[in-house]
Amino acid sequence: MNLAGIENILKNGGIEEYKTEAKLIAQIISDLSLSELFLLDKHPKEDKMIEIAKKRAKTRTPIQYLLNCAYFMGQKYYVDENVLIPRDETEFLVRKSYELVKNKIGLLNILDIGSGSGCISLELAKLLKDKNIEILGVDISPQAIITALKNTQKFDLIRKVIYRKSDIFSNIYKEEKFDLIISNPPYIPIKEKNNLDYELKFEPDCALFASDNEGVEFYRRIIDDAPKHLKKDGFLIFELGVNQVDLVFELLKKDFFEIDYLSDLAGIERVIWGRIKN
Ligand SMILES: C[S@@+](CC[C@H](N)C(=O)[O-])C[C@H]1O[C@@H](n2cnc3c(N)ncnc32)[C@H](O)[C@@H]1O
Repeated sequence: MNLAGIENILKNGGIEEYKTEAKLIAQIISDLSLSELFLLDKHPKEDKMIEIAKKRAKTRTPIQYLLNCAYFMGQKYYVDENVLIPRDETEFLVRKSYELVKNKIGLLNILDIGSGSGCISLELAKLLKDKNIEILGVDISPQAIITALKNTQKFDLIRKVIYRKSDIFSNIYKEEKFDLIISNPPYIPIKEKNNLDYELKFEPDCALFASDNEGVEFYRRIIDDAPKHLKKDGFLIFELGVNQVDLVFELLKKDFFEIDYLSDLAGIERVIWGRIKN
């Protein structure tokens, strides 16, 4: 199969990762592995692959939206322009969340605030497959919830992961208590909107931006109300943006202890968590 032709279209369109993206286009459209693809002279859907590459080069729409597919923790997610494209660094949040609750006994209630494509809730449900769990994902965007439901059906997790439209805790009843509250909230300060990579413009504003100068608006709002919704010994855990660790650490100190954080592979303090004071 002529992968070089697809690479060239992307390269000439100024796409930096043209080799990786050409492979992704070929694999997703054909539903074959690369070795299977190389055995073919021409794939029946090669014209479709070329069409997608041209669209990518011309419009610079992220390839994941053109293919309606993104990989997260090695799994294929359905994505569209209503949800953030899952990022590799969010894997740290999922893995740390798992560590925090894996030894808890009995029913585990987990809340994922800003569930987007559902990737955090669903990967956590898979890691905790031997536990009795109920995960509630909330999002302010009903369109995002529709997308998350597609992924939940795809992974056959509708009995474990459910969704609700909510502005943070607005639709969480006061009797609802969780062992773990997770969030990868919007954390880019809105003032940075005009200086960002062009391709970020395709992702929903509500998934990216916080209204304050430091980008901590959502951390503040969640930390304020989380104590009312955590069980005894419950944890709150966040993904962080660049340089936000000190501010969020300070905010957590009032009601949380055992506060700690970890850095991603680029050395950015990426995940922070704490245990509720009782
Ligand atoms: C950074 S994205 C994270 C999406 C997904 N959890 C992930 O990690 O890929 C933030 C998500 O928060 C949602 N969101 C924004 N404001 C919200 C609010 N006030 N209440 C609930 N969700 C909100 C957005 O719609 C978006 O899906």
